[in-house]
Amino acid sequence: MTNVTQMNETDRQYYFMEKASGHVAKLGEELGRRPTCCVTTFGCQMNARDSEKLVGILEKVGYEIIEDENADFVIYNTCTVRDNANQRVYGRLGVLNGYKRKNPHMKIALCGCMMQEPEVVEKLRTSYRFVDLIFGTHNIHRLPVLLKQAMLEKELVLEVWSKEGDVIENLPSHRANNYKAWVNIMYGCNKFCTYCIVPYTRGKERSRELDEIIKEVEELKNSGYKEITLLGQNVNSYGKDLNNGTDFATLLEAVAKTGIDRIRFTTSHPWDFNADMIDIIAKYDNIMPSIHLPVQSGNDEVLKLMGRRYSKESYLKLFDMIKEKIPDCTITTDIIVGFPNETEEQFQDTLSLYNYCKYDLAYTFIYSPREGTPAAKMEDNVPLSDKEQRLYRLNELVNKYANEANQKYLGQVVKVLVEGPSKKNPDVLSGYTEHNKLINFKGDASMVGQIVDVRVTEAKTWALTGEQLESNN
Ligand code: 5AD
Ligand code: SF4
Repeated sequence: MTNVTQMNETDRQYYFMEKASGHVAKLGEELGRRPTCCVTTFGCQMNARDSEKLVGILEKVGYEIIEDENADFVIYNTCTVRDNANQRVYGRLGVLNGYKRKNPHMKIALCGCMMQEPEVVEKLRTSYRFVDLIFGTHNIHRLPVLLKQAMLEKELVLEVWSKEGDVIENLPSHRANNYKAWVNIMYGCNKFCTYCIVPYTRGKERSRELDEIIKEVEELKNSGYKEITLLGQNVNSYGKDLNNGTDFATLLEAVAKTGIDRIRFTTSHPWDFNADMIDIIAKYDNIMPSIHLPVQSGNDEVLKLMGRRYSKESYLKLFDMIKEKIPDCTITTDIIVGFPNETEEQFQDTLSLYNYCKYDLAYTFIYSPREGTPAAKMEDNVPLSDKEQRLYRLNELVNKYANEANQKYLGQVVKVLVEGPSKKNPDVLSGYTEHNKLINFKGDASMVGQIVDVRVTEAKTWALTGEQLESNN
């Protein structure tokens, strides 16, 4: 007899995957067709990567994965970084309920960051009683056992751990793309920026072992992947919890030495970014010259209230060091406008920092209070209309410099990882340059998945246009 309690966590989940397969097969017999499943992702790349793991498990237990939410099993993998992410989920749940009324076999599951908030779970339990399964960010690897329960029970199955467990390796995953892949290097965040809910929803920092990461990168490389993105909420603090001297610079170098064509990483925190890391990025051609370096604000008082641990001066010192050691490096950023009590003068400091850095791109947000974070308790005297106006003014700068940054590539030959037909025009291919610029170009479709030379013929604010060089054919 198998003793489930004595198994390690990976084996235990494989055991339940087998059980769940039986239930899915039985449902298939009842339906007279293969049961379908749809996973919808909200939010960041971390969530997108988690969804690949969910899909991997669901495929393994026998579901046919489809894009249509009118399916036998639907999972919403949610985000809660700003309130509008929550509102989108509530809005769409009504539509799912409509499908469920017509399909009595349908099961609806919610997981991800929103589920780590007790008020959300309470609201779902009381007002959205058609939801069958709720699980949190720390329970994702437990999908097999939860799925099995949800298939057997009529009542809501609920499992949200408030504390993170160990890092679980070697569960199935279905990668969304055949040429570029995300690789988790760490989970959670210890920074506790005062506006941010992530440390509460994702828990404290846990780094994966370096050997496990390298093994994954090597497997990806051997199966034809050209590009990997190392993922973490704050990649620069990788390894601190391993207590064996390994840090992000060590990891980057080890990943570079695997020889995979392209390495990217996100997200960086300026406080943990050091000169060693910059030197490694500069040293290896396969580490892409493109860094996402969120600044959030250009004013020292606001930065202090945000708990960001750096000043405008120390941020710019780091920025200048990157530009000096990696001369053509693309730098992008995140900015929050309208933090509680932000004055017009303080906002002007953000604009002046922006004019100095001339970022390639910025993701800009109006501050959104998140329950349970220190900033949510701060009184705020800035009217929403002012915040909206600041966002508009900032975005004008974002567009201006994004366009200028792209103009630099006009006439140049750039290396492009070809992804496939462009979204707008199936006769045109699209891909990303080493500097992470989207480029659409006339080219040979047999080159999908390859890195090819493309001459830039036109530069617009959000994308480049080009033509593939003859030498590639
Ligand atoms: N309000 C607005 N923007 C936020 N971000 C994180 N928390 C909030 C919030 N409460 C932004 C930050 C972060 C990005 C992922 O989302 O800019 O870098
Ligand atoms: Fe949130 Fe700050 Fe951690 Fe980024 S570094 S996830 S903004 S707490």
